[in-house]
Amino acid sequence: MVDTGLTHPVSRAHFAGLGFAVPERVLSNDELAGMVDTTDEWITTRTGIRSRRLLRSGERLSDLATEAGKAALANANLSAENLDMILCATTSGDYLWPAMACVVQGNLGAKRASAFDISAACSGFCYTLASAAAFIESGVARTVMVIGADCLSRHVNWSDRSTCILFGDGAGAAVLTAGSADAGILTSTLGADGSMVEHVWMPTGGSANPVTAEMLANNEFGLQMRGRDVYRFCVEVVPKSIVESLCRVGLKPSDVDLLVLHQANLRIIGAVAERLAIDESRCFTNVDRYGNTSAASVPIALAEAAQQGRLKPGAIVVTAGFGAGLTWAVNVIKWTGN
Ligand SMILES: CC(C)(COP(=O)(O)OP(=O)(O)OC[C@H]1O[C@@H](n2cnc3c(N)ncnc32)[C@H](O)[C@@H]1OP(=O)(O)O)[C@@H](O)C(=O)NCCC(=O)NCCS
Repeated sequence: MVDTGLTHPVSRAHFAGLGFAVPERVLSNDELAGMVDTTDEWITTRTGIRSRRLLRSGERLSDLATEAGKAALANANLSAENLDMILCATTSGDYLWPAMACVVQGNLGAKRASAFDISAACSGFCYTLASAAAFIESGVARTVMVIGADCLSRHVNWSDRSTCILFGDGAGAAVLTAGSADAGILTSTLGADGSMVEHVWMPTGGSANPVTAEMLANNEFGLQMRGRDVYRFCVEVVPKSIVESLCRVGLKPSDVDLLVLHQANLRIIGAVAERLAIDESRCFTNVDRYGNTSAASVPIALAEAAQQGRLKPGAIVVTAGFGAGLTWAVNVIKWTGN
């Protein structure tokens, strides 16, 4: 019988390594003000964003995701052959299909790994962490790479000032391994409300409304958003979901050492933290430098937090994503180091 190494059920998924990659090209608020009717002051005050990174023409998201994945493997001191599974959270992969996780699997040479994408927009990485944890806990996989990667710069309408200022491109990756039951990803909460599909969406380009020459000529494509409604929804649902998740494992907001929220907007992060009575020193932010990188924002933030020595063994770390769907997801992690 072939020994797959997958026969011993284990209890929890632990972070073994983190990595990230962002494009070189920086787009500042001042440069954006030369493209649409906006100002650095408006963008900074309403969102906290000062610059974002964009893929150049010809650059591929899968290459960023691969770079992030290689960095996470190096950080974990593991090789691609150790991976049982690669899960990629994205809504802007290289192709409509196959999954970008398969492209990354090929690039890494991770021959033993199964690979597929999870589509939950800006909640994607947190949804995918929960999925990876379930595969590890059930014994289906022991070592899983979880990637969050998006390039919404390829999907925004660059003449719509209400949305094009918000987004940037990037990729982050984590390697999760099976470990003891007393730490790792302790619990997750996943949610969706499909009655709000039209709050933030890409109505064209899918099978309902394929892109036509006429749409392109009239500039009728790209991401659409009801900003105020999305804002209200996130500030309402995310704190509740975080409290519910913590409560399930006998914890409360005052136990949280680091809150890593989806980096959509500094005001959303501030409002969620305030509702939880979590002060600024326990919140990680980098939205000023990268903007909203969708599924990539939480893993990039985790990787930077690790680089800054803010993820200490034993720390309670809460990650939360929210976005199109509308969807939201929370993970409660007892950090074991990487
Ligand atoms: C998008 C967002 C920053 C807009 O801020 P807001 O305070 O809600 O602003 P509004 O959309 O009500 O617009 C206010 C005014 O600013 C204008 N405006 C919009 N974008 C602008 C820009 N980039 N520059 C200058 N003015 C702008 C509007 O036209 C409007 O003008 P009016 O009062 O003359 O009609 C805010 O709604 C938000 O952060 N929402 C959450 C979005 C989000 O994070 N989505 C992703 C979730 S994953």
